[in-house]
Order: sequence, then C-alpha cells, then structure tokens
Amino acid sequence: MRVLVSGGAGYIGSHTVLALIEAGHDILVVDDFSNAKPTVVGRLEALSGRHIPVHAFDLTDADKTSHLFDTETIDAVIHFAGYKAVGESVAKPLSYYENNLGSTFSLVRAMQRHGVHKLVFSSSATVYGTDQAAATEDRPTFATNPYGWTKVMQEQILRDVAAADPDSRFALLRYFNPVGAHPSGTIGEDPSDVPNNLMPYIAQVAVGRREKLQVFGDDYDTVDGTGVRDYIHVEDLAAGHVAALEALERTEEPVSTWNLGTGRGTSVLELLHAFERAVGRELPYEVVARRAGDVAASYADPSKANAELGWRTVKTVDEMCADTWRWQSQNPDGYPD
Ligand code: UD1
Repeated sequence: MRVLVSGGAGYIGSHTVLALIEAGHDILVVDDFSNAKPTVVGRLEALSGRHIPVHAFDLTDADKTSHLFDTETIDAVIHFAGYKAVGESVAKPLSYYENNLGSTFSLVRAMQRHGVHKLVFSSSATVYGTDQAAATEDRPTFATNPYGWTKVMQEQILRDVAAADPDSRFALLRYFNPVGAHPSGTIGEDPSDVPNNLMPYIAQVAVGRREKLQVFGDDYDTVDGTGVRDYIHVEDLAAGHVAALEALERTEEPVSTWNLGTGRGTSVLELLHAFERAVGRELPYEVVARRAGDVAASYADPSKANAELGWRTVKTVDEMCADTWRWQSQNPDGYPD
C-alpha cells in the first residue's frame, strides 16, 4: 500500500514509518514540524536506505490537504499529527480543539473526495478517563482534560463518518504509554520543552539535563504507592500500526477499536530502577505531591488486539530503558536543528 503518514516526523510516526517500509509498504509523510525537527528525515533515510517524501504543511489547511490527494496516489492514511500535551491543552483549549479536530476534518474530507477508505487513527488510553485499569475496548469513553476530549471527539467523528459510509475501514488505536527508541539510537523521543512524561524525564536526569526526578505521589493503592502504567516499546507500537493497517484489508467492520499495550503495569519506581540498571548507576529522585488528574493505575487488556491483529508486544521494560538510554546518551540534546 502507499500510506500517507501524518505526523510522520514525530516520535511514534517516525518509528512507524520505518516499520511500514520494512513491511514492504510505500510511504509519504505530511508534517508541519511544529513539534518535530526536519533532521529526523535524514536519519530515517539512513536507516531505511530509502528516500522519504515529505510534505511540510499544516493539515488544518483543507486546500493544501486536498491538493496533496489530487497529486499523490494514496491507498491508506495513518493519522498521528496532533497536539498532545495535557497541561498545555488546559491552558489553550481552543488551539487543541482547532488543531486536532481541524486536521481530522481536512484529512477525512480529502479521503472521501478521493475514495480512500482506510484510516488508522492515533487514539489514547486517555479516552478511558479515570477508569484505565485493565481497560477493555467496550468501556464508555470520556476525558478529564481538553487533550483527552479531542481524542474522544475524534473517535466519535470517525465512528459517525463510518456509519454513514459502510465502505469505511477505520482503526481507532488506543495507545497506553509509548517509550523506548529504535535500537540504533539514532531516532527517539525529543521533547521540545521540559518533558511532561516520565520516561523522557528520567532519561534527561540520567544525561545531566535535569537535576532529579520528582515522583508524583507515593501513596496510591499500588505495589509501592507510585503510579502504575502500561509502558509499551515504540517499536511494538509501530508493529501494531502495521498489523492494524493490514487487518483493515480483511475486516468487514467499518470501525475497529484496539488497545495497544502490554497488559502489564510498571510503577514509577520500578521504571526508575530499570533505567538505573540500563545506565549502570543510581539516579536522584524525590517524592512530591500527586499530580492533578493522575490515576493510580492504567494498563491495557490487549486481548482483542492480540486475537484480531495477530500482534503482541515482545519487548521488555529493560529493553525499553536500554533503547531509551542509547538514544538519549548518543543525542543528549535531541535532534540537531
Ligand atoms: C500522560 C497524560 C495522558 C497522555 C499520556 C501521553 C496526564 C495526566 N496524562 O499519561 O493523558 O495520553 O501522558 O503519553 O498528563 N510521573 C512522575 N514524575 C514525572 C512524570 C510522571 O512521577 O516527572 C508519574 C506520573 O504521576 C504517572 C507516571 O509517572 O504515575 C506516568 O506519567 P506520564 O508519563 O506523564 O504518563 P501518563 O500520566 O500515563
């Protein structure tokens, strides 16, 4: 298939580009580089040995999006592009709704005009709201912040579009906590600001960019009192996208929803200690107050994806940490400008 990857220069998008090429697909990327560096593209070309065609524009521009579909052959779309910082979404809700919903409107409109039916959408476990432990896909969806609502709303929009056009083949992929990096250490997660998420924060402490980790609460009802999450290696997640895309060729369902997670929970302190093993030394941390809006535990029930996609995660938490550390230590300041 010739697959348009929106947000293909981003963290999950870049790893998925490689997985698609390895699986024999042809790709083109659209990215506005609002949260990615153009230098990632050369690294993807070096790893894949292929030219990566990149269209640099903002998908909320419906005319440019339509023009792209007029001029390129596109069989399927994987839609990663979107704003994703929870705290920023609370401060700038309108930007989140405009950008995340607007890009989906342009893309789906262009797909309809050009008879493209296959779409894989980047959703999130955030759609389970405060009910994220052992989550199955049939749980009701809701959100606790504007970022989360954009995911809930985009899922609903896609379900409604698919109900009106039974030729649709849409996959809604609910990711748990993506971490890790390509084993080469040349591509990985590169937060543009202070990391909001745990793994990139630990990695920056290890490399000396941050003084110490703040552990947000140790009085949850969990194994050691710290928050539990389902960390999934970004390469397993990328493989899940390839499997979902290929499943869309077989299924008769206009919409399919799949959790992409390992099904196993890891606490903040367990992840920190695994990272310490990867680095070979102890890392400084302090316990501080809980972060507003956090849940005690979030982990997938991935059995539906395992059965229907023939996909399962293979990478361990130790591999996630070793690969993150290789990326971070080889690129202490992230991608070059
Ligand atoms: C967060 C978002 C979620 C989003 C996901 C994207 C919030 C409340 N939730 O999920 O909506 O889909 O990122 O990846 O922001 N922690 C620390 N110290 C830190 C950072 C995190 O102790 O400096 C803890 C958190 O309290 C949590 C765990 O580490 O228990 C994981 O946090 P994080 O990586 O931010 O992911 P989520 O909260 O699961």
